[in-house]
Amino acid sequence: MAIQDLRQNYTPEPIDPEDLSADPFDQFTAWFDDAQQAGILEPNAFTLATASADGTPNARTLLLKGIDDAKPAAAEPGSGGDKAPDRGFVFYTNYASAKGEELAANPRACMNFYWDTLSRCVRVHGSVTKVDAEETAAYFKTRPRESQLGAWCSEQSSVIDGREDLMLKFFQLTEEYPDETPIPVPPTWGGYRVVPTSFEFWQGQPSRLHDRLRYLPDGGAWKIERLSP
Ligand SMILES: Cc1cc2nc3c(=O)[nH]c(=O)nc-3n(C[C@H](O)[C@H](O)[C@H](O)COP(=O)(O)O)c2cc1C
Repeated sequence: MAIQDLRQNYTPEPIDPEDLSADPFDQFTAWFDDAQQAGILEPNAFTLATASADGTPNARTLLLKGIDDAKPAAAEPGSGGDKAPDRGFVFYTNYASAKGEELAANPRACMNFYWDTLSRCVRVHGSVTKVDAEETAAYFKTRPRESQLGAWCSEQSSVIDGREDLMLKFFQLTEEYPDETPIPVPPTWGGYRVVPTSFEFWQGQPSRLHDRLRYLPDGGAWKIERLSP
């Protein structure tokens, strides 16, 4: 079929703003659960857009590895006013990659999830911070050994001669770390946390009159507004 003739009619029930959670993290989690139930192969896959210092945009697909969806605990009176930890969306990558360089220069990003069979999208804008070394190490440990070694092999986004060098490095590392020998976290590998400044929940509707509901911070809570499709 010709590209211009590819066309879907979106037919989900429209979003009733009354049904939305007041907390966008809860709303995200509800839609994420729906995406899992719907059997979407990698519901945690998303596009991460960044921009370099001179404003050149870039985007790539990544996998979400954590959501800090716990509500911040109310500060204990007299607790010294410790700041609540940032709530956000966590992914892991190479800090020396193209995205790593872009985030070092411009620590803001946009994430876009698309769950096709549900006709749903979520867009999150936010500021980006590095996950601390302890949290990165805890996650790194949960990865399959092959992925841990793969992280050591890849100087992500740099030009290489061919697969042979990669495979050779991998083989050498399997000798260096045989059997159950713990594999340390590579120094340039770790997590980032996108701390949202806005969320947009999009759901396709007939006649291209789609639902778009945006959450913006509003004095310690979130306000929800509807955007034109
Ligand atoms: C489904 C999918 C999931 C991916 N997940 C990750 C990931 O979690 N971390 C990562 O660094 N790269 C991941 N990649 C590879 C990235 O898309 C990208 O090629 C790589 O991070 C280099 O991007 P950069 O040059 O913009 O830094 C994934 C690719 C696909 C298609």
